[in-house]
Amino acid sequence: MPYAVDSPRVVNISDLRRLAERRLPRAVFDYIDGGADAELTLRENCRVYDDVILRPRNAVAIPECDLHVTVLGRRLELPFLLAPVGSSRMFYPRGEEAAARAAGAAGTAYILSTLSGCRLEDVKAASIGPVWYQLYLVGGREVAGATIERARLAGFSALAVTIDTAVSGLRERDVRNGTKELLGPSTWARLPFLPQFLARPRWLAGFLSDGGLMSFPNVVIPGQGPMPYADVAAALEQSTVSWADLRWIRDVWRGPIVIKGVLTGDDARRAIDEGAEALVVSNHGGRQLDGVSATLRALPEVVGAANGRAEVLLDGGIRRGSDVAKALCLGARAVLCGRAYAYGLGAGGGPGVARAIQILRADLVRTLKLVGCASAGELDRSYVEVPAAWLQYK
Ligand SMILES: Cc1cc2nc3c(=O)[nH]c(=O)nc-3n(C[C@H](O)[C@H](O)[C@H](O)COP(=O)(O)O)c2cc1C
Repeated sequence: MPYAVDSPRVVNISDLRRLAERRLPRAVFDYIDGGADAELTLRENCRVYDDVILRPRNAVAIPECDLHVTVLGRRLELPFLLAPVGSSRMFYPRGEEAAARAAGAAGTAYILSTLSGCRLEDVKAASIGPVWYQLYLVGGREVAGATIERARLAGFSALAVTIDTAVSGLRERDVRNGTKELLGPSTWARLPFLPQFLARPRWLAGFLSDGGLMSFPNVVIPGQGPMPYADVAAALEQSTVSWADLRWIRDVWRGPIVIKGVLTGDDARRAIDEGAEALVVSNHGGRQLDGVSATLRALPEVVGAANGRAEVLLDGGIRRGSDVAKALCLGARAVLCGRAYAYGLGAGGGPGVARAIQILRADLVRTLKLVGCASAGELDRSYVEVPAAWLQYK
């Protein structure tokens, strides 16, 4: 059973986070909320928005704001998309379908993780909007090739290839919460970590009614079937995406390719040379290499390197509509939200995701009106002041 997510109970994304923490078992909440190692990058991704100062144009009347943007040739009614978030089905029954449905209803795109618990065909069918597929090479090229073909047939409109996951980052909270023991074969080892689930009966009822521990129906191992949940860390470690893989992916997919996980001008140029039509400036929400640049800080360098040859998107730390506005001012065509909607899903299922989208949309409209700009597409550097060091890159 979900929590109610309307106002005044939920006013901002932090409120959704608080409700998610209350409804989800510790291991599931921390899986969403946590980052790698000391969580420096996780915190900095959010904090860095404070360094950007808005420069409003006052006494400008804007009766209607236009939030639409065009991404990969497709009109989106909002300048933010829903990022790939693996294991969403653990947050709420049929979580990926619920999130995709909410995105489509709001006129934006949903990106389905390879590590999802719902079949890609069902997720596509759930949304009236565009859906992209996020690719990891778990299981190897043969497995990925079959999934890419399924995604093409199902009508996915872009492939987002994540390049920052050579191994899974060390999420210390997951270790402490017993994720490895919980997924391992030993009942004895699992036992000390079970009370956290019993303490969350609403979640537990939904989890059990949805079939219990999910597998990965979009990673189908020949002769075996869907990859079991327990195998994911080892499988990721054997599936680093390289530029050579990208050439293969391009030949197999043939549609637009988005490279997710770019933080430098050099990688941006390389990705474009390899055929990427869009880049996502991303550090995986601070879940991979800790100590890398906050994404907003890296954005001007990547925009400069792309030099109009590819669309530049950004994710990381988006918790308010003003964060979206700042990223657009610095040259992002649109942004992706991860935790902002994942908290909503964990707190309140599909309506929780819809509430997260509604909060960000209302924030953004208010921000646009207050800075005196009529449309998301018109936001540019002139609306912000940024530290000079951000603009000194080669
Ligand atoms: C719980 C969780 C699971 C994620 N799973 C994936 C994934 O399977 N594939 C991927 O490319 N990125 C994944 N990400 C990263 C997001 O796509 C995105 O880069 C990140 O969440 C953006 O930061 P934000 O959460 O601050 O918005 C995940 C993020 C979270 C929070």
